[in-house]
Amino acid sequence: MNKLWLNCHAATMAGGHYSIIEDAALVTRAERIEWIGPRAELPAGDYAETIDLGGAWLTPGLIDCHTHLVFGGDRSGEFEQRLEGVSYAEIAKAGGGIASTVRATRTASEDELFASAQQRLRSLLHDGVTTVEIKSGYGLDLASERKMLRVIRRLGESLPVTVQATCLAAHALPPEYAERSDAYIDLVCSEILPTLAAEGLVDAVDAFCEHLAFSPAQVERVFQRAGELGLPVKLHAEQLSSLHGSSLAARYGALSADHLEFMDEADAQAMAAAGSVAVLLPGAFYFLRETQLPPMQVLREHGVAMAIASDLNPGTSPALSVRLMMNMACTLFRMTPEEALAGVTLHAAKALGLADSHGSLEVGKVADFVAWDIARPAELAYWLGGELHKRVIRHGEEQIDV
Ligand code: NIG
Ligand code: FE
Repeated sequence: MNKLWLNCHAATMAGGHYSIIEDAALVTRAERIEWIGPRAELPAGDYAETIDLGGAWLTPGLIDCHTHLVFGGDRSGEFEQRLEGVSYAEIAKAGGGIASTVRATRTASEDELFASAQQRLRSLLHDGVTTVEIKSGYGLDLASERKMLRVIRRLGESLPVTVQATCLAAHALPPEYAERSDAYIDLVCSEILPTLAAEGLVDAVDAFCEHLAFSPAQVERVFQRAGELGLPVKLHAEQLSSLHGSSLAARYGALSADHLEFMDEADAQAMAAAGSVAVLLPGAFYFLRETQLPPMQVLREHGVAMAIASDLNPGTSPALSVRLMMNMACTLFRMTPEEALAGVTLHAAKALGLADSHGSLEVGKVADFVAWDIARPAELAYWLGGELHKRVIRHGEEQIDV
């Protein structure tokens, strides 16, 4: 059964960049886009249903390509400490930070994790998100990483959203491996990754390359194992210092390197050559009150695709709105609203390895789109959070309760 969607304009992102069609028409058949173009060029035909969108602006469904939204507890107490001047690194060294969320996540039951994560995910969906990536990484042992990844799969089955699961077992050193980080990487490579991959719980592998976490040599071992298991990789790199993790990620053909405040021009060159996406996380930059900006002009000059994501996590970015991240990417990182929109659609899809099926309104792609009651696409980066009036269409079906 096909459907004709009329009386709209479309920010299609077709052709690999921001592009628009005024007075557009869209035809969907089942879950795919069958035709899109100016209404004046719509082929004559029979349509089972015609939907009037009332002059709305269509965009691809928003994609949040970097989140840690499954976790136990919260870290509002650490937020208060940081406001009094204690740094993120100092809190981590004192046994807080990621380690405190690991304790709370290990103690929580699967159902408790599922319930709290579902609420946070609903907030993202209210914002027009139709695809989300969610990482493990607060379990740090086989059973607890499995628990997180099972919750991530359940979230995708219970809510109208496409969920990509990333195993981030190499996020931090668990307390039982203190002073034995190589032994923990052995465990990740020999047991955690192969077991969870065999159970079908993993779509990609991530790691945290930083003085606080793992060295480039340790990350490389994780990437090699991921390659043997046939899994794509991504990396938290250059967030707090420059270890050239983004160049390492590029050498392994990573889907993305994320954060990147401290990357240099050679890193950008390597990422451009590898086609790895730069995922920028303005929520973490803001929440940690960082001052070193990602090298935006260098990324542009080398043609590195730039995505934006929430990094939703309890420690550095308790951000429940992707549109708010678009605004912050503009105000803090000086992106244009057009770049910001491409960053949460087209380039975010690429960062998840979904460029062939998601991220733009083009024939053959999945019919995930949002019809926004706005006068100009730039409004999506303009309003500071809140809920905009909109209709969300996923797999060609309007979502009534979102
Ligand atoms: O993306 N950088 C490492 N991981 C997270 C922070 C996790 C946490 O503090 O709980 C991030 O910012
Ligand atoms: Fe992160």
